[in-house]
Amino acid sequence: MPIVDNLLQLYAHDFSEFHHVELDPRGRFNYAPLPLYWSDPTRHPFLVKMDTRLAGFVLVHRHDHVWDMVEFFVLRGFRRRGAGTAIAHQVWKRLPGRWEVRVMQANQAALPFWERAIAAFTGRRIEPIGIEKDGNYWQVFRFDSTFNGGNASSGAGGVLCRLPAVG
Ligand SMILES: CC(C)(COP(=O)(O)OP(=O)(O)OC[C@H]1O[C@@H](n2cnc3c(N)ncnc32)[C@H](O)[C@@H]1OP(=O)(O)O)[C@@H](O)C(=O)NCCC(=O)NCCS
Repeated sequence: MPIVDNLLQLYAHDFSEFHHVELDPRGRFNYAPLPLYWSDPTRHPFLVKMDTRLAGFVLVHRHDHVWDMVEFFVLRGFRRRGAGTAIAHQVWKRLPGRWEVRVMQANQAALPFWERAIAAFTGRRIEPIGIEKDGNYWQVFRFDSTFNGGNASSGAGGVLCRLPAVG
């Protein structure tokens, strides 16, 4: 959890470019649900590694019979090499079923990324649905990862490590 918490600081800083991020008095970003990923069996935390080096993290939550890609982060130094796509494909293969990926409209890098990663996995283009919540605009991709009709990346771009539950 402390490792993911550290990476969340970098993730929040990236997001602060297009979305207001509130820091605590110590200058840290406080992600309240983080401990739940080690106590609630419907939540799944993963680290991303390139060789042995830390390269990102993924948080997944299962609710209403759907897998929700809650947070997804690749460190800047590892981007644009296919790592994000390879990791997303590993997550979808490992957790088959209905998926929802929500992307802030303002996150201009993530939109083409998800569009391509999902199309490569499913073998077809999934049209996102636009929604508005609390004044924020999102694009939501919904698909089923059970039948992977595309060319799922082999995972050469990174390794997904399931973090063990504690306590
Ligand atoms: C979005 C993110 C996960 C992409 O990771 P990545 O490892 O760079 O992704 P890939 O290398 O697999 O990219 C695959 C394709 O997605 C698209 N893409 C990725 N980053 C992009 C960017 N900044 N701008 C435009 N298109 C982009 C490109 O088509 C890319 O293929 P190309 O490099 O051959 O042009 C990464 O930039 C990130 O962690 N961003 C900050 C956190 C975030 O926004 N997470 C998603 C929350 S919904």
